[in-house]
Amino acid sequence: MSDWPYPFWIAHRGAGKLAPENTLAAFRLGARHGHRMFECDAKLSSDGVLFLLHDDTLERTTNGRGVAGRLCWAELAQLDAGSWHSPAYAGEPIPTLENLARYCLANDLLLNIEIKPTPGCEEATGCAVAQLAARLWAGAATPPLLSSFQAASLRAAQQAAPELPRGLLLETLRDGWLDTARALACRAVTADHPQWTPDTVARAQDAGLRVLSYTVNDEAAAQRLTALGTDGIFTDSVDRLGAASG
Ligand code: G3P
Ligand code: MG
Repeated sequence: MSDWPYPFWIAHRGAGKLAPENTLAAFRLGARHGHRMFECDAKLSSDGVLFLLHDDTLERTTNGRGVAGRLCWAELAQLDAGSWHSPAYAGEPIPTLENLARYCLANDLLLNIEIKPTPGCEEATGCAVAQLAARLWAGAATPPLLSSFQAASLRAAQQAAPELPRGLLLETLRDGWLDTARALACRAVTADHPQWTPDTVARAQDAGLRVLSYTVNDEAAAQRLTALGTDGIFTDSVDRLGAASG
Protein backbone atom coordinates (compact mmCIF):
# COMPACT_ATOMS: atom_id res chain seq x y z
CA MET A 1 0.00 0.00 0.00
CA SER A 2 1.31 3.46 -0.83
CA ASP A 3 1.70 6.01 1.92
CA TRP A 4 -1.78 7.43 1.23
CA PRO A 5 -3.74 5.50 -1.42
CA TYR A 6 -7.03 7.35 -1.06
CA PRO A 7 -8.58 9.89 -3.44
CA PHE A 8 -9.19 13.50 -2.44
CA TRP A 9 -12.99 13.29 -2.62
CA ILE A 10 -15.03 10.99 -0.39
CA ALA A 11 -18.78 10.64 -0.89
CA HIS A 12 -20.41 11.08 2.52
CA ARG A 13 -22.84 8.32 3.62
CA GLY A 14 -22.90 7.06 0.02
CA ALA A 15 -24.54 9.90 -1.85
CA GLY A 16 -25.07 12.63 0.74
CA LYS A 17 -28.72 13.60 0.75
CA LEU A 18 -29.54 12.42 -2.79
CA ALA A 19 -30.45 8.92 -1.64
CA PRO A 20 -31.18 7.40 1.79
CA GLU A 21 -27.89 7.63 3.67
CA ASN A 22 -25.94 4.46 4.44
CA THR A 23 -28.03 2.25 2.13
CA LEU A 24 -26.58 0.29 -0.79
CA ALA A 25 -28.78 2.37 -3.09
CA ALA A 26 -26.87 5.45 -1.92
CA PHE A 27 -23.44 3.94 -2.57
CA ARG A 28 -24.55 2.81 -6.02
CA LEU A 29 -25.75 6.33 -6.79
CA GLY A 30 -22.51 7.87 -5.54
CA ALA A 31 -20.57 5.49 -7.77
CA ARG A 32 -22.77 6.45 -10.74
CA HIS A 33 -21.68 10.03 -10.13
CA GLY A 34 -18.08 8.90 -10.49
CA HIS A 35 -17.01 8.67 -6.87
CA ARG A 36 -14.37 6.08 -6.00
CA MET A 37 -14.39 6.35 -2.22
CA PHE A 38 -17.20 6.39 0.31
CA GLU A 39 -17.78 7.08 3.96
CA CYS A 40 -20.23 4.99 6.00
CA ASP A 41 -21.24 4.81 9.67
CA ALA A 42 -21.07 1.37 11.32
CA LYS A 43 -22.44 0.07 14.61
CA LEU A 44 -23.19 -3.27 16.31
CA SER A 45 -26.52 -5.03 16.68
CA SER A 46 -27.33 -6.67 20.02
CA ASP A 47 -26.19 -10.02 18.57
CA GLY A 48 -22.90 -8.77 17.15
CA VAL A 49 -23.69 -7.93 13.52
CA LEU A 50 -22.14 -4.74 12.13
CA PHE A 51 -24.66 -2.66 10.20
CA LEU A 52 -24.85 0.84 8.73
CA LEU A 53 -26.67 3.62 10.56
CA HIS A 54 -25.63 7.12 11.56
CA ASP A 55 -27.85 7.86 14.54
CA ASP A 56 -28.01 5.99 17.84
CA THR A 57 -31.77 5.69 17.31
CA LEU A 58 -33.89 4.43 14.44
CA GLU A 59 -36.57 7.12 14.08
CA ARG A 60 -34.94 9.58 11.66
CA THR A 61 -33.86 7.17 8.92
CA THR A 62 -36.01 4.05 9.34
CA ASN A 63 -39.54 3.01 10.30
CA GLY A 64 -38.20 1.47 13.51
CA ARG A 65 -38.14 2.93 17.01
CA GLY A 66 -35.65 3.21 19.81
CA VAL A 67 -31.97 2.51 20.16
CA ALA A 68 -30.80 0.61 17.10
CA GLY A 69 -28.03 -1.26 18.90
CA ARG A 70 -30.53 -2.87 21.28
CA LEU A 71 -32.15 -4.80 18.41
CA CYS A 72 -30.82 -8.03 16.99
CA TRP A 73 -29.95 -8.25 13.31
CA ALA A 74 -33.07 -10.24 12.41
CA GLU A 75 -35.15 -7.31 13.69
CA LEU A 76 -33.05 -4.61 12.04
CA ALA A 77 -33.12 -6.46 8.72
CA GLN A 78 -36.94 -6.09 8.59
CA LEU A 79 -36.87 -2.29 8.68
CA ASP A 80 -37.48 0.15 5.84
CA ALA A 81 -34.53 2.55 5.61
CA GLY A 82 -35.68 4.24 2.41
CA SER A 83 -39.24 5.54 2.79
CA TRP A 84 -38.19 8.43 5.05
CA HIS A 85 -36.20 9.79 2.10
CA SER A 86 -38.63 9.41 -0.82
CA PRO A 87 -41.09 6.90 -2.33
CA ALA A 88 -38.54 5.84 -4.95
CA TYR A 89 -36.50 4.22 -2.17
CA ALA A 90 -39.35 2.64 -0.20
CA GLY A 91 -38.37 -0.75 1.18
CA GLU A 92 -34.64 -0.15 0.95
CA PRO A 93 -33.09 -2.21 3.76
CA ILE A 94 -30.38 -1.39 6.26
CA PRO A 95 -27.21 -3.04 4.92
CA THR A 96 -24.67 -4.92 6.95
CA LEU A 97 -21.12 -3.61 6.80
CA GLU A 98 -20.25 -6.87 5.06
CA ASN A 99 -22.84 -6.14 2.33
CA LEU A 100 -21.15 -2.82 1.62
CA ALA A 101 -17.66 -4.32 1.81
CA ARG A 102 -18.58 -6.89 -0.84
CA TYR A 103 -20.01 -4.17 -3.11
CA CYS A 104 -16.86 -2.04 -2.75
CA LEU A 105 -14.45 -4.92 -3.24
CA ALA A 106 -16.27 -6.18 -6.34
CA ASN A 107 -16.25 -2.73 -7.93
CA ASP A 108 -12.79 -1.42 -6.94
CA LEU A 109 -14.29 1.20 -4.66
CA LEU A 110 -12.57 2.40 -1.50
CA LEU A 111 -14.15 2.84 1.90
CA ASN A 112 -13.81 4.90 5.05
CA ILE A 113 -15.60 3.08 7.85
CA GLU A 114 -16.60 5.46 10.60
CA ILE A 115 -16.91 3.48 13.82
CA LYS A 116 -20.11 4.97 15.25
CA PRO A 117 -20.74 3.02 18.45
CA THR A 118 -23.94 2.94 20.39
CA PRO A 119 -22.96 4.69 23.66
CA GLY A 120 -21.37 2.13 25.96
CA CYS A 121 -20.23 -0.08 23.06
CA GLU A 122 -17.16 1.93 22.04
CA GLU A 123 -14.54 -0.79 22.48
CA ALA A 124 -16.63 -3.71 21.23
CA THR A 125 -17.57 -1.80 18.07
CA GLY A 126 -14.00 -0.71 17.34
CA CYS A 127 -12.75 -4.25 17.82
CA ALA A 128 -15.53 -5.78 15.67
CA VAL A 129 -15.04 -3.31 12.80
CA ALA A 130 -11.29 -3.90 12.73
CA GLN A 131 -11.65 -7.68 12.85
CA LEU A 132 -14.26 -7.74 10.08
CA ALA A 133 -12.31 -5.31 7.90
CA ALA A 134 -9.09 -7.28 8.32
CA ARG A 135 -10.87 -10.47 7.26
CA LEU A 136 -12.85 -9.05 4.32
CA TRP A 137 -10.04 -6.93 2.89
CA ALA A 138 -7.31 -9.56 3.39
CA GLY A 139 -5.29 -9.54 0.18
CA ALA A 140 -6.95 -6.40 -1.18
CA ALA A 141 -4.68 -3.71 -2.60
CA THR A 142 -6.14 -0.94 -0.48
CA PRO A 143 -7.62 -1.47 2.98
CA PRO A 144 -10.42 0.66 4.36
CA LEU A 145 -9.59 3.68 6.48
CA LEU A 146 -11.10 3.24 9.96
CA SER A 147 -12.10 6.42 11.75
CA SER A 148 -13.97 7.50 14.85
CA PHE A 149 -14.74 10.40 17.16
CA GLN A 150 -14.24 7.88 19.98
CA ALA A 151 -10.64 7.34 21.06
CA ALA A 152 -11.68 4.14 22.84
CA SER A 153 -12.99 2.72 19.55
CA LEU A 154 -9.80 3.59 17.71
CA ARG A 155 -7.71 2.06 20.49
CA ALA A 156 -9.70 -1.17 20.27
CA ALA A 157 -9.34 -1.16 16.48
CA GLN A 158 -5.60 -0.64 16.83
CA GLN A 159 -5.33 -3.62 19.16
CA ALA A 160 -7.45 -5.86 16.94
CA ALA A 161 -5.87 -4.99 13.58
CA PRO A 162 -2.90 -2.65 14.01
CA GLU A 163 -2.10 -2.77 10.30
CA LEU A 164 -5.32 -1.04 9.25
CA PRO A 165 -4.99 2.73 8.83
CA ARG A 166 -6.85 4.89 11.33
CA GLY A 167 -8.16 8.44 11.34
CA LEU A 168 -9.15 10.54 14.35
CA LEU A 169 -12.38 12.50 13.91
CA LEU A 170 -12.73 15.83 15.69
CA GLU A 171 -15.44 18.49 15.80
CA THR A 172 -12.90 20.94 17.19
CA LEU A 173 -9.14 20.86 17.44
CA ARG A 174 -9.28 20.86 21.22
CA ASP A 175 -6.23 20.81 23.49
CA GLY A 176 -4.19 17.68 22.94
CA TRP A 177 -5.62 16.76 19.52
CA LEU A 178 -2.22 16.05 18.00
CA ASP A 179 -1.11 14.01 20.99
CA THR A 180 -4.29 11.93 20.80
CA ALA A 181 -3.79 11.27 17.09
CA ARG A 182 -0.17 10.30 17.65
CA ALA A 183 -0.95 8.08 20.64
CA LEU A 184 -3.42 6.14 18.48
CA ALA A 185 -0.86 5.94 15.65
CA CYS A 186 -3.38 7.57 13.33
CA ARG A 187 -2.60 8.30 9.69
CA ALA A 188 -5.13 11.11 9.38
CA VAL A 189 -7.10 13.69 11.31
CA THR A 190 -10.55 14.54 9.97
CA ALA A 191 -12.08 17.72 11.35
CA ASP A 192 -15.06 19.96 10.72
CA HIS A 193 -13.68 22.00 7.84
CA PRO A 194 -13.55 25.50 9.43
CA GLN A 195 -11.03 24.09 11.94
CA TRP A 196 -8.32 24.00 9.29
CA THR A 197 -6.10 27.06 9.04
CA PRO A 198 -2.52 27.43 7.75
CA ASP A 199 -1.33 26.85 11.32
CA THR A 200 -3.40 23.76 12.14
CA VAL A 201 -2.74 22.19 8.73
CA ALA A 202 1.01 22.70 9.16
CA ARG A 203 0.96 21.21 12.66
CA ALA A 204 -0.83 18.09 11.46
CA GLN A 205 1.21 17.61 8.31
CA ASP A 206 4.50 18.26 10.15
CA ALA A 207 3.49 15.39 12.44
CA GLY A 208 3.05 13.14 9.38
CA LEU A 209 -0.74 13.19 9.48
CA ARG A 210 -3.06 13.58 6.50
CA VAL A 211 -5.58 16.39 6.82
CA LEU A 212 -9.20 15.65 5.91
CA SER A 213 -12.36 17.74 6.22
CA TYR A 214 -16.05 17.02 6.72
CA THR A 215 -18.64 17.92 5.38
CA VAL A 216 -18.00 20.32 2.52
CA ASN A 217 -20.88 21.08 0.20
CA ASP A 218 -19.89 24.32 -1.51
CA GLU A 219 -17.22 25.18 -4.00
CA ALA A 220 -15.75 28.13 -2.07
CA ALA A 221 -15.03 26.03 1.01
CA ALA A 222 -13.53 23.30 -1.17
CA GLN A 223 -11.26 25.83 -2.87
CA ARG A 224 -10.09 27.16 0.49
CA LEU A 225 -9.18 23.65 1.66
CA THR A 226 -7.43 22.85 -1.60
CA ALA A 227 -5.39 26.05 -1.34
CA LEU A 228 -4.43 25.08 2.21
CA GLY A 229 -2.89 21.88 0.85
CA THR A 230 -5.24 19.53 2.69
CA ASP A 231 -5.53 15.89 1.68
CA GLY A 232 -9.20 15.05 1.41
CA ILE A 233 -12.80 16.23 1.60
CA PHE A 234 -16.03 14.48 2.56
CA THR A 235 -18.99 15.81 0.62
CA ASP A 236 -22.75 15.37 0.43
CA SER A 237 -22.75 17.16 -2.94
CA VAL A 238 -21.84 14.06 -4.87
CA ASP A 239 -23.48 15.41 -8.04
CA ARG A 240 -21.69 18.79 -7.95
CA LEU A 241 -18.30 18.33 -6.28
CA GLY A 242 -15.43 15.94 -6.61
CA ALA A 243 -15.59 13.18 -9.15
CA ALA A 244 -18.79 14.59 -10.60
CA SER A 245 -17.28 18.02 -11.21
CA GLY A 246 -14.69 16.45 -13.48
O1 G3P B 1 -16.57 10.89 8.92
C1 G3P B 1 -16.92 12.19 8.60
C2 G3P B 1 -18.31 12.51 9.07
O2 G3P B 1 -19.16 11.48 8.68
C3 G3P B 1 -18.38 12.68 10.56
O3 G3P B 1 -19.60 13.16 11.02
O4 G3P B 1 -21.84 12.97 11.98
O5 G3P B 1 -21.56 12.88 9.53
O6 G3P B 1 -20.84 10.97 10.93
P1 G3P B 1 -21.02 12.45 10.85
MG1 MG C 1 -20.01 9.64 9.49
